[in-house]
Amino acid sequence: MKLYLDTGNIKEIEEINNWGVLSGVTTNPSLLSKEGGLNKDTIRNICDMVKGPVSVEVTSLTPEEMVSEALELKEISPYLVIKIPATVEGLKATRALSEKGIPVNMTLIFSPSQALLAAEAGARYVSPFVGRLDDTGIEALEVVQDIREIFDIGGYDTEIIFASVRHPSHVIRAARIGADIATIPYRVFTLLIKHPMTELGLKKFMQDWNNLNK
Ligand code: G3P
Repeated sequence: MKLYLDTGNIKEIEEINNWGVLSGVTTNPSLLSKEGGLNKDTIRNICDMVKGPVSVEVTSLTPEEMVSEALELKEISPYLVIKIPATVEGLKATRALSEKGIPVNMTLIFSPSQALLAAEAGARYVSPFVGRLDDTGIEALEVVQDIREIFDIGGYDTEIIFASVRHPSHVIRAARIGADIATIPYRVFTLLIKHPMTELGLKKFMQDWNNLNK
């Protein structure tokens, strides 16, 4: 399973990119608004740094406007993936963009039927929002499992991005379910590598080694 960082913050991307495990980045309007909005130069720098898919969402609501916004965004970098919301208008825009060979990440997916329609419209990725589904009391992992099964049986090559990740066990569940990608916030990314027994073990190894060399 590939690991993406879910952020609009370039410092967070720089850091995790240096770990050697990062395959892509996802943003959304809320994340970019925390960084002061969409800055094309910043997005270009992120694409150049990560050298992998970077999802940026349209902020218009009609299919025509979504397509023209997407075409403008796509000028920024070949790595750019256009995030389109799972609405009827979004499906129309996805069809138009996929026919032009522009990769779409259909976002705000909360049901298998939305994912099926996204794949039929030609979306390259679907992003089920697991954490937000959990918040509603719905069995979010079953939704992602259903999407996996639908895509496998139907032979769709649309990739599943396990999104709205809240904790490390979401990432492990994503991998076990067979999600293609998990997009992970910075805080959760840093928790993935931490384990108290690793820290204690390393401390002891260093103490023993340093005692020998005294
Ligand atoms: O990738 C989707 C993500 O940005 C939404 O996450 O934490 O706002 O539910 P969250």
